[in-house]
Amino acid sequence: MKNIVVLVSGGGTNLQALIDAQNRGEITGGKITCVVSSNPDAYALTRAQNNGIATEVIRRKDYDAFEKYDAALTELLKSKNADLIVLAGFMTILGSQVIRAFENRIINIHPALIPSFCGEGFYGLRVHEAALEKGVKVTGATAHFVNEICDGGPIILQKAVAVQNGDTPEVLQKRVMEQAEWQILPKAVALFCEDKIKVTGNTTEITE
Ligand code: GAR
Repeated sequence: MKNIVVLVSGGGTNLQALIDAQNRGEITGGKITCVVSSNPDAYALTRAQNNGIATEVIRRKDYDAFEKYDAALTELLKSKNADLIVLAGFMTILGSQVIRAFENRIINIHPALIPSFCGEGFYGLRVHEAALEKGVKVTGATAHFVNEICDGGPIILQKAVAVQNGDTPEVLQKRVMEQAEWQILPKAVALFCEDKIKVTGNTTEITE
């Protein structure tokens, strides 16, 4: 059984999708053992507590240097015996120490079809604002491994979602979550926990 540690910062709807998938028996090879938040007021912490999952808070601003924060987060994740780390709306950039310590063991969910609308500055609602500004007709979500390039690691799963006339960033965000993020993130986690993702360089192969 793999230990899954989920990192969050906000509402935690992706965390909820993972908990729901786990409760439905869809994540057979792993268990969510801890939720770590960058924000002590994140509603995601309440979701974890409601489901009997241990919680921790680690704030970037409590460390005077980024390297010290990076080292503390790495230690925290090692102390939790994390086999898989899931970034579910985690809004703090990860440092190289934690990324190297958990190579191809950190999965992020991004609310667009990478390589569109990704990289530094593209997070949360901003991604959907940029997609609407560009006028794309199709957007979606991407589950990928994290490497040292922002949103540049091996892609595991993607799902497309149609943009509709009159969409606001909020409406589009909700549709992308419902139709793509909440489906592909639990699926990617389940595949990882069953050792069904083979990584070669920057590509992955699902061995189902
Ligand atoms: C989600 O849409 C997630 O894809 C996005 O933040 C939202 C968090 O919502 N993540 C990023 O933009 C990362 N670059 P949630 O807290 O309800 O899961």
